[in-house]
Amino acid sequence: MIFDAIRESHDLQRDLCRKLTASRGDMAVRQLLFLQLKVELMAHAAAEERHLYVPLLMEDGGLQASRHALHEHHEIDELLEDLSVRNKKQAGWIATAKQLSFKVRHHLKEEESKFFQVAGRLLSETKKQQLARKYTREIVRMRRHYGAEYESVVVSASSGLVKPASRAADRPATRGSASAGARLRGQGEPRRTR
Ligand SMILES: [Fe+2]
Ligand SMILES: [Fe+2]
Repeated sequence: MIFDAIRESHDLQRDLCRKLTASRGDMAVRQLLFLQLKVELMAHAAAEERHLYVPLLMEDGGLQASRHALHEHHEIDELLEDLSVRNKKQAGWIATAKQLSFKVRHHLKEEESKFFQVAGRLLSETKKQQLARKYTREIVRMRRHYGAEYESVVVSASSGLVKPASRAADRPATRGSASAGARLRGQGEPRRTR
């Protein structure tokens, strides 16, 4: 079911928001939690927009809910941009991270308690099953897409989840070679750290 698949990412987002806003002192830990959350939020929003909100937008009764959700995705994107600075210790960073966490939690709650019900009524069972398959494939593809930008995170080949790159078992064989990594990503630029 599409909604169960989406909830799995929502639970991950809540957990990462909680850990990020509680992070103190160790900036490497904060940086890693931020990148994991950023990649998860961006990958989830892309997969959800393509395989839940686009079909919902095509229904008259789904216009309001999908527009509202897309607007909130954009607000979350802007907060992620504000937080993507090198110095995450600076005054105000954690306050903005708490704002992001608040916004994300509000958004997830609204989706789970309102928008899923709207979508549940408007989309057929067959359509929901088809969307679940597409969403599940897409979120892993988009985690790889966004994760490839940052050297400190990888996407596990077994679970399809975003992990810290330091876990040796999850490293692709090419890690450590910048040129091989760039070939893998199909681009020449170095990866970003923020
Ligand atoms: Fe969403
Ligand atoms: Fe969502």
